[in-house]
Amino acid sequence: MSETTAPLLDSPAESPEVMTTEEVVAVTKKLNYGTWRYQKSWKPMHVVDAEGCYFFDASGKRYLDFSSQLMCVNLGHKNQAVIKAIQDQAAALPYIMPGYATTARAELSKLLLDVLPAGLEKFFFTTSGTEANEAAFKIARMYTGKTKIIARYRSYHGSTMASIAATGDPRRWAMEPGGKGGGFLFAPEVNCYKCPIKHTYPGCNIACADYIEHMIENEHDVAAVIVEPIVGTNGVLIPPKEYFPKLREICDRHGVLLIADEVMAGWGRTGEWFSVDHWGVKPDMLVTAKGITSAYVPLGLCATTAKIGEYFEDHFFSHGHTYEAHPLTLAPGIAAIHEMQRLDLVNRSREMGAYLGEKLLALKAKHPSIGDVRGLGLFWAVELVRDQTSKAPLNSMQDKVDGVPMVTEKVAAEMMKRGVTVQAWTSHFVIAPPLIIEKSEIDYGVNALDESLAVADEFVASLG
Ligand SMILES: Cc1ncc(COP(=O)(O)O)c(C=O)c1O
Repeated sequence: MSETTAPLLDSPAESPEVMTTEEVVAVTKKLNYGTWRYQKSWKPMHVVDAEGCYFFDASGKRYLDFSSQLMCVNLGHKNQAVIKAIQDQAAALPYIMPGYATTARAELSKLLLDVLPAGLEKFFFTTSGTEANEAAFKIARMYTGKTKIIARYRSYHGSTMASIAATGDPRRWAMEPGGKGGGFLFAPEVNCYKCPIKHTYPGCNIACADYIEHMIENEHDVAAVIVEPIVGTNGVLIPPKEYFPKLREICDRHGVLLIADEVMAGWGRTGEWFSVDHWGVKPDMLVTAKGITSAYVPLGLCATTAKIGEYFEDHFFSHGHTYEAHPLTLAPGIAAIHEMQRLDLVNRSREMGAYLGEKLLALKAKHPSIGDVRGLGLFWAVELVRDQTSKAPLNSMQDKVDGVPMVTEKVAAEMMKRGVTVQAWTSHFVIAPPLIIEKSEIDYGVNALDESLAVADEFVASLG
């Protein structure tokens, strides 16, 4: 050992004092920000371990991870192949700057050609979905020479200046109007349960896509349309089969790029590798993150067509990061794809998703608070309403940013007592367990939701 190398701590006597759970929670709360929330009510749980579809708090209590954390731990916790890939890469080459080629980079790039929708052949690696969208917007602007990006209201595209400006949901509001990046416009989302332009499918003839064309024609200078092909956090909204072919055709006719944000809906989540695969539509760019490494390390991807890539042969590619194509993020990406293939998780998502959907749909008949249940693969939303006819939500988006206690959060807290965690949004839950989930675990999770919905049913009954 060289003199400058610090000795390893090898006995408990030499280890720094271990903090108690109370200290861990108190220090975290005092010195860190809790995201997207009022800080006062933040009481972070001390999580000490995780395995498969479960994680464990410091008391040893086990929680079924019914939303895969933030809809990202698709392989489940502690997949050994992914862990080994991280360890091996750390030993071999933990970092080299993005100007160099690495084996991990080349191997992952080749594998991506196998799993991404055909035609996406040039890759920019990031360390989050947010940054992948930022890359997509810059590439779209550089490539087309145009500025505006059309997004949709029920959407989330990330937290930094451009990606939050493209986000339709209330997380954007804090940046309005002065702090919001320019050039982003919003179209109505596809929501056949509660159409924002009050149409009914199929008689509507997909008027929400026609409206995007109207925007493109009248705005002029539109570089791209960005959509979550299946909207995630904002309610697992699945478009009718005509929507994507129509949107693709509109974009082509007007020379506008189509960007598919598959940060959440990709990687087998919906029962296809990527959710656009359900309609066979080829986007000009596909942005993803989360499931690409099952979230074990932060990796994002902006994939473009070869045609877009070729443009930059003779034009300056004005984008980059210190951590672009970081070897430690890429090696686990390779392992995650191999694991998905070995465990046949795309098909499993479809099969288990059908089972989960059946069970969730059965709840609808029992609970007056449920307005809609919808999903594809292992990606489901249970939407709660004040009344099934008016479809009025239990809480509004304004309630969320005002810190009003949400009924969905109370239901989620009840589920937590039963050892099941789920992501609760303004008036719906996103149920998206790891793709390795077993039927018995689905039964357990749905049962916890069934029992906990009593809280929402009582609230609805109290409205009279
Ligand atoms: C559809 C979508 N796009 C982008 C993002 C941002 O990704 P990240 O949180 O990795 O920055 C998310 C995150 O939830 C997302 O769901």
